[in-house]
Amino acid sequence: MSTDSVNEGRRRFWIGATSVVGAAGAVGVAVPFVKSWNPSAKAKSAGAPVVVDISKLEAGQKMTVEWQGKPVWIVRRTVESMKMLAEVEGNLRDPASNDSNQPEYTKNQGRSIESHSDIVILVGICTHLGCSPLYRPDVGAADLGGDEWKGGFFCPCHGSKFDLSGRVYQGVPAPLNLVVPSYYYVSESVVKIGEDGEAT
Ligand code: FES
Repeated sequence: MSTDSVNEGRRRFWIGATSVVGAAGAVGVAVPFVKSWNPSAKAKSAGAPVVVDISKLEAGQKMTVEWQGKPVWIVRRTVESMKMLAEVEGNLRDPASNDSNQPEYTKNQGRSIESHSDIVILVGICTHLGCSPLYRPDVGAADLGGDEWKGGFFCPCHGSKFDLSGRVYQGVPAPLNLVVPSYYYVSESVVKIGEDGEAT
């Protein structure tokens, strides 16, 4: 499992749900590897949920796992960054997530399950043309607008910005908030991504 806080670059594909072997690069690079799997393993893994231990994820950190061939981010937000979510709403395109692709149970400001409101889980693919945005929790970053920037995700491909709930800002190319996958907590520190279930 990896914990990373900065700079992933363009979309990367992570191999393995519970141990990150490394970035396989872009799609064209990943395909030969995928083809080497036997069909049953490939079919089985294509849609299978992933179980993730988040006990070592500290406030402010982000970890990435693979689900359905896509990077999925798990971010534990700080108390300060949770407060920023309300502050930025006037600058967001869809602050209430009315148009976004996400489970009903995450339709709130934090786009998270209430029992773990500090944790947000997002498919790490820009809703514009599919690059993987960068995690930029650094409030006031000069290259992202200085005081206007309250932390979030920045897509380097065409400049789309998202807050720390993955909600898209106004005036950028991305049309929608980042996708929230189905998930539920198996226990206090273990989350199952890719499936709905009983909340703990
Ligand atoms: S792909 Fe992200 S802004 Fe275009």
